[in-house]
Amino acid sequence: MGSYVPPRRVTNHDLEQILDTSDEWIRTRTGIVERRVVNEGVVTSDLALAAAKAALADAGLGPADLDLIVVATGSPDMLWPSTACVLQGKLGAGCPAFDVSAACSGFVYGMSLVEGLVAAGQYETVLLVGADALSRHLNWNDRSTCVLFGDGAGAVVIRRVDGEGDMLGSVLRADGRDADILKIPAGGNAIPPSTESVEAHLHYITMNGREVFKFAVRTTCAIVEEVLGRANVALDEVTYVLFHQANQRICDAAAEGLGLPKERVPGNIDKYGNTSTASIPLLVDELYRAGSLEAGNIIVTVGFGAGLTWGANVVRWSKGGHG
Ligand SMILES: CC(C)(COP(=O)(O)OP(=O)(O)OC[C@H]1O[C@@H](n2cnc3c(N)ncnc32)[C@H](O)[C@@H]1OP(=O)(O)O)[C@@H](O)C(=O)NCCC(=O)NCCS
Repeated sequence: MGSYVPPRRVTNHDLEQILDTSDEWIRTRTGIVERRVVNEGVVTSDLALAAAKAALADAGLGPADLDLIVVATGSPDMLWPSTACVLQGKLGAGCPAFDVSAACSGFVYGMSLVEGLVAAGQYETVLLVGADALSRHLNWNDRSTCVLFGDGAGAVVIRRVDGEGDMLGSVLRADGRDADILKIPAGGNAIPPSTESVEAHLHYITMNGREVFKFAVRTTCAIVEEVLGRANVALDEVTYVLFHQANQRICDAAAEGLGLPKERVPGNIDKYGNTSTASIPLLVDELYRAGSLEAGNIIVTVGFGAGLTWGANVVRWSKGGHG
């Protein structure tokens, strides 16, 4: 595993200087205290590269060992080539590479996809990266969205092994009927870039926050129960349930719905905000590096986001503390 966040911290107090908002409002409504934001010129593939290098070093592998690179992102460097291809070039790897687009569920979707490819014997060693620089797609004058997001990347090297590590179950879901409640409207061919699209702020994230909130609370508990049923694992056997870090109140409501104590639902939204596809690997890597994961631990990861998309994976961890 590896992860990376850009060094520049933007605190709620910093946002108070440019917006009609307050640290108190942001903290009580979301749990966010600060987030990391890329500097001008830093793009998603740069974040992905740093996380990928850390994951390869942790695995004791080099770029030449990779058979496939998959990048989950909702903020690609450009429409195409894929961010995975740009990353492949920056890494100096020679393998195929493509992106997965499932917004904030991207890492959970990617894990499920890659596990299937590896289990089927199509690829031996796969690098999966969740990377997003959503700060580049935010309207920094819109207090209802810009306070929520941050930048970062997390990466994992996935390999077929004999031993404890395993993916025990996976459930992916989507409902495109609600595509409009969370989106970046322009930039694709529905609304190509134009002076009008820029003036109307259509290249930024738009969101119906209340509807997204209700969707997240509604789906997260149910999907945990469903994926555990599919994996034939009882909730008591699970060490941690790791929710996509979008809002602390969503995590708290889901934990309460499942009857889980806080210790089994760790989070880091206070430090990073919603880093989209990076949020789950950032959290897993943080637990891993803190020595909080032991071989044989079962973790459930839960993603949700634009699409709408949501999903969950049950993973049995194979390694002890860091290294
Ligand atoms: C965005 C979110 C925090 C807003 O919280 P909320 O309790 O629903 O707040 P509302 O949108 O109802 O807004 C309440 C008031 O706060 C104001 N407000 C919104 N953002 C604000 C901010 N940053 N600072 C201060 N006030 C703010 C609104 O203008 C509104 O004022 P009004 O009552 O005078 O109109 C919440 O809906 C949420 O987290 N939704 C999920 C978003 C998400 O996770 N998206 C990504 C999913 S992957």
